[in-house]
Amino acid sequence: MIFTKSKGLRGEISVPGDKSISHRSVMFGSIAKGTTEIHHYLQGADCLSTISCFQKMGIAIENRGDRVLVRGKGLRGLTRPDTVLDCGNSGTTARLISGILAAQDFDVVLTGDDSIQKRPMNRIIEPLSLMGARIRSARDNGCAPLEISGRPLRGISYTSKVASAQVKSAVLLAGLYAEGETSVTEPYLSRNHSEIMLRHFGAHVQTEGATAVIRPGPELEGRQIQVPGDISSAAYFICAGLMVPNSEILIRNVGINPTRDGILRIARDMGAHITLLNTHSGSGEPAADLLVRSSSLHGTVIQGSLIPTLIDELPVIAAMACLADGETVIRDAAELKVKESNRLEVMVRCLTAMGADVTETGDGMIIRGGKPLHGAVIDSCLDHRIAMTFAVAGLCADKETEILGGECVNISYPGFYEDLKSLM
Ligand code: S3P
Repeated sequence: MIFTKSKGLRGEISVPGDKSISHRSVMFGSIAKGTTEIHHYLQGADCLSTISCFQKMGIAIENRGDRVLVRGKGLRGLTRPDTVLDCGNSGTTARLISGILAAQDFDVVLTGDDSIQKRPMNRIIEPLSLMGARIRSARDNGCAPLEISGRPLRGISYTSKVASAQVKSAVLLAGLYAEGETSVTEPYLSRNHSEIMLRHFGAHVQTEGATAVIRPGPELEGRQIQVPGDISSAAYFICAGLMVPNSEILIRNVGINPTRDGILRIARDMGAHITLLNTHSGSGEPAADLLVRSSSLHGTVIQGSLIPTLIDELPVIAAMACLADGETVIRDAAELKVKESNRLEVMVRCLTAMGADVTETGDGMIIRGGKPLHGAVIDSCLDHRIAMTFAVAGLCADKETEILGGECVNISYPGFYEDLKSLM
């Protein structure tokens, strides 16, 4: 995959459905009673892993492309899978499903690809064990494969050390089955799609600040779900549109939930021209069309409560900061080290290879922007967000940028390169 400097990106696109919301729609639909009909479901490999896991547990799921039908069997309707549950590359599948599996009346083994087998699972093993779950890392290294024996659970009040929607959601899902109330408090509020969608399915969920509380039962009811476009996928076009001169891009129907819209806030803070049009809402999630124009950008500080609202966008934001005037400081982002790759280390290494002036810190990086980028050979490390980030960086760099392993964009955005080309 080779990219060269662009003279301008123009046109209109719709990005695929939101990954986080797609996963949850199949999971919650599977444990609801009746049919859940999902529109604009993300057909990326991660969300297909979620479908396959629930099919293995006896749920009829018809994937008709843009529309997915889930014939849910209720909270107690899952059956023991004949094989290991394979989550592929998907941390969301592995962690959220564990919260459901912890409460079933059967045993399962859950695993995934090489990357998943290196990602930290103690963050869910700890709270689920406090609830009475039997869950253990088969190799005793705090990672998958996980052996989970379903047990009756009790509610807990849990304070999480990390702001993680995956941890919060795993505990809330276990709380759906537990005796008594379960609450999760985070250092900063993470994405709240589980809280919104569980309520939409009829669960008793309340929130206050960075605390979410769930009471067990009643049975969830199948629902219609409209999945908005994924702001994390739109991020590549937002940044490309801002950075490449002579660009104007309209990105249709993008989810702008305030727990996810940090990229819009930080881009504006850097001087970006982004206009929100046609703001609307579907299944409790706000969405809008985004009109993005080339802008002259300056550095900023990204830290604290903003970090969870743009965690997956930090790679492409870091690339953008390299072309902005002045210094950008990213702090409180140590979570980047435990994503599909160590995104902190990979970003600093690859941006440096392209001529950027970047220093890694313990929990982020310092970028001294305004220096021209030049092409390089970039190993994506099979991390979809790294591949897409450097495709965009390549459009702003002299000479050629080659992305190795670029097909990994299939994880979250199968048509990414075609969509990017359609704007050239
Ligand atoms: C996700 C939560 C985030 C995010 C991931 C999707 C989710 O992870 O990075 O891509 O759908 O809950 P953490 O919960 O580990 O922060």
